[in-house]
Formats: sequence, structure tokens, C-alpha cells
Amino acid sequence: MAKKSLEYSNLFAKGLPPASGRWKGHPPFNFIGGHADPDLQPIEGFVESSARVFRKDGRGLATYNMDSGPQGYLPLREFVAEKLARHRGIQVSTDEVLITSGSGQGISLINDVLLESGDTVITELYSFAGVLSNLRRRQVNIVGIDTDSGGMRMDLLASALEDLNQRGITPKYIYTIPTLQNPTGTVMSMERRREMLRLSREYGVPIFEDECYADLIFEGEWEHAIRSLDDANHVLHIGSFSKSLAPAIRLGYAVAPWEVLSQMLACKGDGGTGAMEQMIVGDYFHNHYEDHMEVLRSGLQRKLSVLIAALREHFGPSVHFDPPRGGMFLWIRLPEGVDSRKLVEPAAREGIVFNPGPDWCAEPDKAANYMRLCYAFPSEETIRQGVEKLAKVFHQEAGVS
Ligand SMILES: Cc1ncc(COP(=O)(O)O)c(C=O)c1O
Repeated sequence: MAKKSLEYSNLFAKGLPPASGRWKGHPPFNFIGGHADPDLQPIEGFVESSARVFRKDGRGLATYNMDSGPQGYLPLREFVAEKLARHRGIQVSTDEVLITSGSGQGISLINDVLLESGDTVITELYSFAGVLSNLRRRQVNIVGIDTDSGGMRMDLLASALEDLNQRGITPKYIYTIPTLQNPTGTVMSMERRREMLRLSREYGVPIFEDECYADLIFEGEWEHAIRSLDDANHVLHIGSFSKSLAPAIRLGYAVAPWEVLSQMLACKGDGGTGAMEQMIVGDYFHNHYEDHMEVLRSGLQRKLSVLIAALREHFGPSVHFDPPRGGMFLWIRLPEGVDSRKLVEPAAREGIVFNPGPDWCAEPDKAANYMRLCYAFPSEETIRQGVEKLAKVFHQEAGVS
């Protein structure tokens, strides 16, 4: 029999995202990706915690999910519940916490449980590119609500909910990043958080609260999570260890009512999130969370001031930004008419990568003249040099001066 040729591209499922390129190493000036600071990895702490926790609980590795069950290693869930009570005002038991493989898995699981093609969700107009692409892949309609310096505008949320209601549409959720919003860096006031919860109740639409960056407020009072105000299970809450510790560890968590959590567990087909990382992080943070966060926040704050000084020196008044109260990225407005997408290639030729605004916007063209620069990973010197080079590229290619 004649052999048939095999073309995988003919077999691929419909609606796949664009294929990944091959890894070519980090570019010299890397301002994307939410990487952490390599010099702030607590290596000795990890070594110490590993020795202690493997001696104590290592035999448990012999069974799937150890002795803790599929929601995750119990001491880590205990740490999450304590941290949420102490810093976010959230009172939950370990039974309401699910450890996930990064908070990205929490997003996918919530979407698996709630979304079908043709559904509608509400997000901030500028939002996390990973969520926007996940929603687009699922063919979900995204209604982006504009923001100001206080985050999502509640007057616009109220009119969008009313408008959808008039058209017989109940959105599946309101996705928000209230604390150090990605990409704008804003922090929503308690008043707005209360108002969002009120609207959620009025229209019967849950809030999906992503507090991935909430540990990274540099100074001052911390607004409590929306979940802390909720006594009727209206809020699904997720968080991450990628920003407070390290993204390669791949740990996050979700807090949700059992009705939702049990469905998320049923969809979490990975045989359990890696137990070794849960054990090490559980032990390390039980002993060192406060001191680690203090060092991390001051390191990030220093890098942010280096970035801001470099932008002022090399871009001058052609860029605008509101310095955020914390986090690891800066959202920057370029002059009207500049399209940041067109600057990606010329910058890459100089070894610089940055996030063009449209990837971070529910209506991409509205963010053409924005860009996001992440500052945790590059050294202070690399930030200075990278911004200087970027300014030259922007000047040559788009006349930004
Ligand atoms: C707002 C937000 N949520 C979730 C994630 C996913 O992070 P991870 O899966 O590393 O926890 C990110 C990553 O940058 C993010 O910015």
C-alpha cells in the first residue's frame, strides 16, 4: 500500500493560538514577562527549608497529593489562609483554598468551569494579556470597562451591567485586578471595592478577583481584598507565589466556595500540583515571609526609581505615567499617533524587548500608544542602558523625542 503523507498542521484543532517560537535565551534588555529579580532569590533559605521539610514529610511523596488530598499540601494551605487573614482581611479555612500550578492555572480552571463560547465577561479595559488571550481563544465576548487613577470606574461598570441586562445578557463574571492592576498599576479604593460588590449582588454576577501582585505594595496602608467584604460567596479570589517569590516555582492559589472549587478540582487533570515546591515554599514562607517581603519590596522600589529617572532623562516629557504604589511594571503613555506595535521589531534588533500596549487591552487599538516595561529582572545598570537605547530606537523610528 502506498504510504500516506502525514501533515500535523492538517490535524491540529481549530482555534489554536499562534505557535511558540524556539527559546533563544533572554535578550540583553528584557523588560517583559514578569520575571523576578535573580539577586533576590532566597537560595540559602530554600536549601535550609528543603532539608528540614523533606526529612519531616518526605515519605509522603510516595503517594499522589501526599497525605493532604488534591487541594494541595496542607502546611502550604495553612500559610495561605494565615497570610490572607493577616494581609488581605480574608477569613477562610484551608478547605476553601486550592493550590494551583501558578495562578495562571487558577484562571484556566475558573474559565473551564464557567465559560462557553458566546459568553460575555467584563474586564478592566486594560488587563492582563494572558487573561485576554485565554478569553479570546474561548470565543468569549469581552466588555472592557475604562479605568482612571483609581482603577475600574464604577459608574461605567454600572451602566455596562445595566445595558447588558436590558439586552438579556448576564455576564459570567467581572474580572478585576484591584491591587496593583496589570498593566496600569492602580490600586482600587475600598469605596470602589464595596461598590463593585454591591453591583455584583444587584446583577447576580460574580467577581473574579486576581490579587497576583497584592503582596508588592511598597509602603503605607493596604486596601483589603474584595473577598474580605463578601459574606455571600460572590467573589472568586486567586493569588500567586510568582511575584512574591519566583515564577519558575509555579505555585498559586484559588479561594472559592466548595461548589466551584469541587468543579475546578474535577477539571484539574494534572495529578496534583508539584509537591516538592509546595513543601519548600510552605516551610520557607512559614519562617521567612515578612523578612523576605521587606527585602523584595525595597529592591523593587529602588529599581522603579531607577527606571523612572532613566525615562525622565532619555524620553523627557514625551512619556507619561503615574508612578505605581508597588509591583514590578510601569505602564507608559507615548505621544498620540505612535503605534508601539511598530516599535517591537526595531527594538528587538537592539536587544530590547518590551510589551506593546495593544496586547494588554480589551480593545487593542485603544492602547496603540502605550507600552509596559517590567523592571524586576534587569539589573539597575541594565535598566539605565536599556532605556537609553530604547529612547534612541523610538526617536529614530517614530520621532519620539
Ligand atoms: C494579573 C495576573 N494574573 C495571573 C498571572 C499568572 O501568573 P502565574 O501563573 O505565574 O501565577 C499573571 C502573570 O503575570 C498576572 O499578571
